Amino acid sequence: MAEELILTPGITREERYREILPQVEAVITGETDFIANLANVSAILKEAHNFFWVGFYRMMEGELVLGPFQGPLACTRIALSRGVCGASATQQKTLIVPDVEKFPGHIACSSASQSEIVVPLVVNGQTVLVLDVDSDVYDDFSETDQTYLEQIMEIIRKVHYSAAPPLKS
Ligand code: SME
Repeated sequence: MAEELILTPGITREERYREILPQVEAVITGETDFIANLANVSAILKEAHNFFWVGFYRMMEGELVLGPFQGPLACTRIALSRGVCGASATQQKTLIVPDVEKFPGHIACSSASQSEIVVPLVVNGQTVLVLDVDSDVYDDFSETDQTYLEQIMEIIRKVHYSAAPPLKS
């Protein structure tokens, strides 16, 4: 496994996502440890896009618990009734928040955070994980981020939540 990202200077955000997707897949395919893989996905997203905060919350006994991340200190536990992460996990859909101050119940882990995107991973009807990306710039996220971050969650699904193929007899 390559342990150095290939990042071409001066390309667009969409081109950057296209560049890292196969690298995300290459890095986490073949490694079975969930935390190790989430840690590397956070690191790849941070290095590729220099996001202010990027990381995961895992669903644990009915609340979201902080997982691997890159960025400043973050809230450890989030109730499902709270914040953008709780709303995304409950509604089971990606939420893009252009101005976090205007989102009812937003949890300000850092006052520098201005906009946010949260992408849930739903397995058998249950939210098991959310990916949270925060920016210190207003209105920083678009459908482009949604498209590619959802693809990253699909890679995580494939590696960690696909049933083993039936044995051939
Ligand atoms: N702002 C998030 C909480 C998590 S952190 O910002 C890292 C929310 O409202 O769910």
